[in-house]
Amino acid sequence: MNSPVMQGLTVNAPAYVKNAKLIAWVADMAALTQPDHVYWCDGSQQEYDRLCQLLVDAGVFKKLNPAKRPGSFLACSDPNDVARVEDRTFICSERKEDAGPTNHWVAPAEMRATLQHGRPNGEQALFAGCMKGRTMYVVPFSMGPLGSPIAHIGVELSDSAYVAVNMKIMTRMGKAVFDVLGTDGDFVPCVHTVGAPLQPGQKDVAWPCNPTKYIVHYPESREIWSYGSGYGGNALLGKKCFALRIASNMGRAAAQESADAPGWLAEHMLILGVTNPQGKKYHVAAAFPSACGKTNFSMLVPPAGFEGWKVTTIGDDIAWIKPGPDGRLRAINPEAGYFGVAPGTNLKTNPNCMASLDRDVIFTNVALTDDGDVWWEGLEQDTGHLPAHLIDWQGKDWTPEIAKATGAKAAHPNSRFTVAATNNPALDPAWDDPAGVPIDAFIFGGRRSTTVPLVSQGRSWVEGVYMAATMGSETTAAIAGQQGVVRRDPFAMIAFCGYNMSDYFQHWLNVGEKLAQTGVTVPRIFCTNWFRKGADGKFVWPGYGENMRVLKWMIDRIEGTAQGVDHPFGVSPTYEEVNWTGLNFTAEQFNTVTSFDQAAWQAELKLHNELFTQLRHHLPKALEETRARLEKRLAA
Ligand code: OXD
Ligand code: MN
Repeated sequence: MNSPVMQGLTVNAPAYVKNAKLIAWVADMAALTQPDHVYWCDGSQQEYDRLCQLLVDAGVFKKLNPAKRPGSFLACSDPNDVARVEDRTFICSERKEDAGPTNHWVAPAEMRATLQHGRPNGEQALFAGCMKGRTMYVVPFSMGPLGSPIAHIGVELSDSAYVAVNMKIMTRMGKAVFDVLGTDGDFVPCVHTVGAPLQPGQKDVAWPCNPTKYIVHYPESREIWSYGSGYGGNALLGKKCFALRIASNMGRAAAQESADAPGWLAEHMLILGVTNPQGKKYHVAAAFPSACGKTNFSMLVPPAGFEGWKVTTIGDDIAWIKPGPDGRLRAINPEAGYFGVAPGTNLKTNPNCMASLDRDVIFTNVALTDDGDVWWEGLEQDTGHLPAHLIDWQGKDWTPEIAKATGAKAAHPNSRFTVAATNNPALDPAWDDPAGVPIDAFIFGGRRSTTVPLVSQGRSWVEGVYMAATMGSETTAAIAGQQGVVRRDPFAMIAFCGYNMSDYFQHWLNVGEKLAQTGVTVPRIFCTNWFRKGADGKFVWPGYGENMRVLKWMIDRIEGTAQGVDHPFGVSPTYEEVNWTGLNFTAEQFNTVTSFDQAAWQAELKLHNELFTQLRHHLPKALEETRARLEKRLAA
């Protein structure tokens, strides 16, 4: 045993942990947070089962009826801890301008005083003693296939067993990570606490958390500190905190190593493979804001009219993208599981996902049926009726009558499932390939009821980057705060870019330029909007599996067989270019989702200008110029 003792607490590192820096850090953190025990996760199935049982015994998990949903559990959170807290998320770079105007910034020394060191006036640090009465779980994980040159390692210290079991599903977690780390390998240190120490004899609650929350990133030292929440991206630190905010910094730093190093990209993107009936395969990475259907799109089942086509999933939320040995961009999914939104998921919207959820799932904040299974809004479309009675996500009785009278939702709109990628029947055979898959196209999908057409293609890399940079979206329940308001969400990364957004645009432009210099085919860039509404306020485009029709048009563009029509904002399909077999969608409906309204676009460009004014520090000239060109075309 390697056992540094800090203030009477032995951290008890197993003999196979050989990384001195890691052991010393765990000891330091244990001394700061003062847990009763330190437990090193080995990632085994036995450990997972044991921790799940512990969560059942503690009343955190409810075991679902094994005849209905084997190996599955339901957890219900505190009603005040149900989504990512963007207003409590901080990028603490040394210089404010490096966090940029889209991130909340606090000077690192100031933040460390709040979290870690306390203040000379006697003010206690939030992390001091925050794990009292609890166990600190040491959770070693790899983002990306273990040992892959694209992968990176993190270690999360958390006082939540719920986090430990979720991390087992969401990442490659366990003992083998220590082998990769060896004696001196590097890791991203991630410290997480629910911020609810227990006094001796104090009874725990089912979902401990703290009204004060901090989700903190130090990009220079590549550290993550999370306080007060046990939910999703606030607490499962491999996901948004590491794989996007810290990794976006890593990817850009890699480009600064030498003049011709392209660096890499950490993106809020699904990755899918699409194979045509002749067996030719394409790969697409697509960015959509949170809760806008990335999981559904990544598991798409081609509709009638697409016999012989196949879509396979590489990832549903995050992509790490680097040039491969042949110079082409290759993407890996750094995650190993899906933390997807449950409401709206059903056999029509995502049959592959429904099959994935048959067994071995952790559900959070969905409703419980009387026979010990789970339910969420949207499942009535499969059964044709609402259940007569449920226990809702807050433990209250729910009936269709109550719902009608009060509007009560049985499942929270941001309720989730955590499930291993290997449960997915549409999993791509290369999903775990350390080399990644070559990317043919990028898609950027906004959520707009008006203005933005169903699909358009940028005429160049720069125009594509412009489209992505100016993307707007109506907010969803994945984020605490008001829903349905349009905000600019560049690259669907507004909440996830760990540095100055203008520098991020420049990084994208540089990557494209460096790729082009090597002579490889640069991925095409498309912009989609599945969410345009008609005069009746209803969505016009049927979406889900029917999105295949748009995907096919993109492939035709790649192959040079679709001409499209040119408009100021790019190139969109003609009605005739889309395969409509099996779908009754009239030219008039098509016009509703693709029409280009001059006045609406003039107003839209003003909003682009507002964004660019906000981001003027380091804003790439090429984007300003593109905007000016668009303005001219619109005025013509
Ligand atoms: C997610 C999100 O959980 O984007 O993936 O909020
Ligand atoms: Mn996401």
